[in-house]
Amino acid sequence: MSRVVVFDEFGGPDVLRVVDEPVTEPASGEVRVRVEAFAVNPLDRMMRSGAMPSTVHLPHSRLGVEGTGVVDAVGAGVTALAIGDPVILAAVPDASARGSHAEHITVPAERVIARPAGLDVTEAAAVWVAFSTAYGALVEKAGMRPGDHVLVTAASGAVGRAALQIARHVGAVPIAVTRHSGKADDLVAAGAAAVIATDRADLAEAVHHHTAGTGADIVLDLVMGPGQPNLLRAARPGATLVAAGFLDPRPTPFPATAGVTVHSYRSFEHTLDPAVVRRMAAFLTAGVRLGTLRPAIDRVFTLADVAGAHHHLDQGLHAGKVVVTV
Ligand SMILES: NC(=O)c1ccc[n+]([C@@H]2O[C@H](COP(=O)([O-])OP(=O)(O)OC[C@H]3O[C@@H](n4cnc5c(N)ncnc54)[C@H](OP(=O)(O)O)[C@@H]3O)[C@@H](O)[C@H]2O)c1
Repeated sequence: MSRVVVFDEFGGPDVLRVVDEPVTEPASGEVRVRVEAFAVNPLDRMMRSGAMPSTVHLPHSRLGVEGTGVVDAVGAGVTALAIGDPVILAAVPDASARGSHAEHITVPAERVIARPAGLDVTEAAAVWVAFSTAYGALVEKAGMRPGDHVLVTAASGAVGRAALQIARHVGAVPIAVTRHSGKADDLVAAGAAAVIATDRADLAEAVHHHTAGTGADIVLDLVMGPGQPNLLRAARPGATLVAAGFLDPRPTPFPATAGVTVHSYRSFEHTLDPAVVRRMAAFLTAGVRLGTLRPAIDRVFTLADVAGAHHHLDQGLHAGKVVVTV
């Protein structure tokens, strides 16, 4: 049997139940992973609470889009992976059916990648969604280059922190945005070249100050909502804004772009493409080896307390990833 987290109705963390289910055998082309740890993401909160625009199959929905573990069964035709290989889940687009909040998950073999050496289990559980999203948005989508001024919103969060590290790793200049000036020192320690705290400073003015009047070359908008026009004002003509998150549930005004290219980004467009996943994995592995890329872990829970992990994320006081060990 295998312990699995399921929910039958939308709601708060208390709708989550840990149940015992038979272990599924991998079909042809699939592998089964014995999950050692998984991270809880804002997407899981959206699925659980009913805020997802896409379908969640109730009752008895699973959830969870990232995690790490060890291959413990391989289906027919799988030659690139063997029992015992440590892996990371690279994409779980059907989390309602196969979610990673579980002791075992069965997925197509191309949806796992080798676990980079040098990460412990909790870090490996927390690395992929944040770093693949930040890499995909900044490098693949916006074409980030050395010297670019990169404005990172929600920089205190998991994707934001990954974006700061990735920008540094390629020689770009990350400017972090937070709503709270009390987080400035932490963000400098996390890799920001400059921090703009919107409780103290006017965003567009501060960006122009930090870019010698030019404006940001790239904006990573993880918040959206009514603050986005300010970000566009802070960008230089010809800049790129990648809208990749939706932390502010309020409507986003139609972008008055003034020469700024705006992309809407969902990481599945890359994490379901084996060619891009190969680039992402190579970039990540090199950064981990060099010591420049490493996820920030906020807190670790046990599977029995998965509702506590969701509650912690709901409270919004975390700084980095919330991880559950299995
Ligand atoms: N496009 C994709 O494929 C993709 C993939 C992964 C994640 N995402 C999305 O990206 C976003 C960030 O994910 P994450 O895991 O980094 O989240 P996270 O770790 O929960 O981010 C937390 C930080 O975001 C900031 N924040 C929260 N609510 C905010 C609000 N209403 N306005 C402004 N800032 C706010 C806060 O920073 P301060 O208190 O310092 O301001 C907070 O510390 C989420 O919306 C997530 O769903 C998208």
